[in-house]
Amino acid sequence: MPTKEEVVQALKKVIDPELGIDIVSLGMVKEVDTKNGSVEVTLELTTPACPFRAQLKDHAEKVLKALPGVSSVKVSVVARVLPSRAGEKILPGVKNIIAIASGKGGVGKSTVAVNVGLALAELGSSVGILDADIYGPTVPRILNVKVGLANAGDKIAPAISYNGVKVMSIGFLLQEDEPVIWRGPLVANAIRQFLTDVEWGDLDYLIVDLPPGTGDASLTLAQSIPLTGVVIVSTPQDAALRIATKALNMFRKLNVEIIGIVENMSYFVCPNCGHVFEIFGRGGVKAACERLGTRFLGEIPLSPDIRANGDLGKPVVIAAPRSESAEAFRKVAYEIAGSVSVIAYKRGKDSRG
Ligand SMILES: Nc1ncnc2c1ncn2[C@@H]1O[C@H](COP(=O)(O)OP(=O)(O)OP(=O)(O)O)[C@@H](O)[C@H]1O
Ligand SMILES: [Mg+2]
Repeated sequence: MPTKEEVVQALKKVIDPELGIDIVSLGMVKEVDTKNGSVEVTLELTTPACPFRAQLKDHAEKVLKALPGVSSVKVSVVARVLPSRAGEKILPGVKNIIAIASGKGGVGKSTVAVNVGLALAELGSSVGILDADIYGPTVPRILNVKVGLANAGDKIAPAISYNGVKVMSIGFLLQEDEPVIWRGPLVANAIRQFLTDVEWGDLDYLIVDLPPGTGDASLTLAQSIPLTGVVIVSTPQDAALRIATKALNMFRKLNVEIIGIVENMSYFVCPNCGHVFEIFGRGGVKAACERLGTRFLGEIPLSPDIRANGDLGKPVVIAAPRSESAEAFRKVAYEIAGSVSVIAYKRGKDSRG
């Protein structure tokens, strides 16, 4: 029968694929119990949406079963989301802030923001979504909530949607008929003030749906909100991808971390015959990610259930949770969570020295 130390030693063979570091050194091994030939271990992941959750658990089980004198193995997996924003003054209770951006309009930013938020929340993460589209809020409509200025003490209460997701719209900053000048410190200050006026509570992930394009509004917002990083949504057409690449370079210039790129409206599956039509050519975004040295976050099919359910106020992750579309959003959500964990780990390491 191995000792606890020997169990821990053996678990050093399990490497986190994101970081290339073993799970013991990463501090993921929380509890080790050994008695009468049975070993029980608890692993703590850096996000419940870890894309390698099953792989890490399987590998740990294999390693432990191979130890001499072990007859039964139980590996439990828990998660605590790693913060990428430790030490931030604005919204210190929000561990990660993820902006969703695009080079041009209509590529599915809001749809991705909402379904990814819901997918993260369904695994138990606390999630908020901030609609920062100054050209008109869409998130409250997609989620079928009324965002109002209800009070929570001296703060503004967000609306609560499916899976407990909190929703707020930056539209409240904008006075009707008043032209908004999206430049300068005044706007930045107003946005930061508004953000802190909202009662977000403690959040693992705050997702910010930015306005389309890389005009003043998006850039000012991206710089006023202290972000973990930005996810770029693109469709597979060459032109769209070129514009997305431009956006990516612009964010890089502003020192906004790039979490990765999502390909939306990637392919179409015929509901009658199941044939896959790659209407705009598939795989362009993935190739571009390799070229640009950024993470490919996955592809979402062009699908009637995504549009229809979004319009009905019930996003596909909720309306048809087992559909191919919902599963595609989940995969993207886990990739985002993985990428954010890596950023958080690196930032933590930098600040630890
Ligand atoms: N994968 C998809 N399959 C089918 N329809 C989609 C898909 N993604 C988005 N749509 C639909 O396309 C339209 C535009 O999507 P959405 O509003 O999310 O884009 P956006 O990038 O946020 O647009 P805007 O630039 O106006 O903010 C919506 O009607 C939405 O339901
Ligand atoms: Mg939108």
